[in-house]
Amino acid sequence: MGFPSRVKIVEVGPRDGLQNESQPVPASVKIALIDRLTEAGLPVIESGSFVSPKWVPQMAGSAEVMAGIRRKPGVSYPVLVPNMKGLEAALAAGADEIAIFGAASESFSQKNINCSIAESLARFRPVAESALANGLRVRGYLSCVLGCPYEGAVSSDVVAGLSAELMAMGCYEVSLGDTIGVGTPGKAAALLERTARDVPIDRLAVHFHDTYGQALANIYAALELGVAVVDSSVAGLGGCPYAKGASGNIATEDVVYMLDGLGIETGIDLEALVDAALFISQALGRPPASKVACAIAGKRAA
Ligand code: HMG
Ligand code: MG
Repeated sequence: MGFPSRVKIVEVGPRDGLQNESQPVPASVKIALIDRLTEAGLPVIESGSFVSPKWVPQMAGSAEVMAGIRRKPGVSYPVLVPNMKGLEAALAAGADEIAIFGAASESFSQKNINCSIAESLARFRPVAESALANGLRVRGYLSCVLGCPYEGAVSSDVVAGLSAELMAMGCYEVSLGDTIGVGTPGKAAALLERTARDVPIDRLAVHFHDTYGQALANIYAALELGVAVVDSSVAGLGGCPYAKGASGNIATEDVVYMLDGLGIETGIDLEALVDAALFISQALGRPPASKVACAIAGKRAA
């Protein structure tokens, strides 16, 4: 299979990135970031989470964020939802899409959502059903697909089976999360090949954290197999509150620069994206964790 001619980038910075910030980030800053990302041409911008504020305090203001953003027709603004309570809040906030999120390892499931994998699936089923009945789109996530911080290696048979279960619930796509960024290209390709036996490759997205600097190479390996949906985080924001040492998702700027170079369309304006990265980095008081943002900022300054 050759490279796809077009890739959909799912921007997860305002959620996966900012959920991990220890300093409070005001809703106004999140709104300004999301609006900048919309202007830069991102087609999907994950904008918040309706989870327990005791578990993830940083996402507590998600309703205010959803109320404040300027939504552009054709752009999706999904939010994470772990249970019916979260779905009710997402519906009240006018969400157009939700993401349910499970894990491929039992220990991570317990640490992240306080239940077993089987319990999580039983919990997600009515959430997905009700979301679909309300006209929302439902995306599925699986964490720890290439390794778990508590259990180590994770079976790709388990990942494939759980991905198929999420699809059977009505998810339009399953995003495979290398939550702690331990994957390498050969392992990522083998996982995708195995999972694609149970779920069509055009329904699979890749979600690589860049902890060990492998994310871009892993994405390249996924593209070679025909994967055409890539999750990434502006300025390389983030980590995971339940995966110690996990650094941010691969930076969106770095992915877009590579895709531009490969002649793969994204519809994203790299310069405007870098503006968004510099905006949030300044708001957080640190430089972007993105080589491309730093390079372009340096070139502008010269
Ligand atoms: P629990 O404590 O088992 O839940 O948590 P509970 O039902 O017993 O409720 C406990 C309290 O939470 C109650 O409040 C509920 O009302 C409240 P209290 O009576 O104590 O005042 N509550 C809620 N409040 C607001 N919204 C809700 C909600 N549900 C319950 N939806 C629960 C279970 C799932 C709620 C909790 O564990 C949780 O919120 N976990 C979220 C963890 C999270 O957000 N992690 C980060 C996202 S996942 C990720 O980053 C990975 C990903 O990027 C992919 C990758 O990289 O691998 C997606
Ligand atoms: Mg993540």
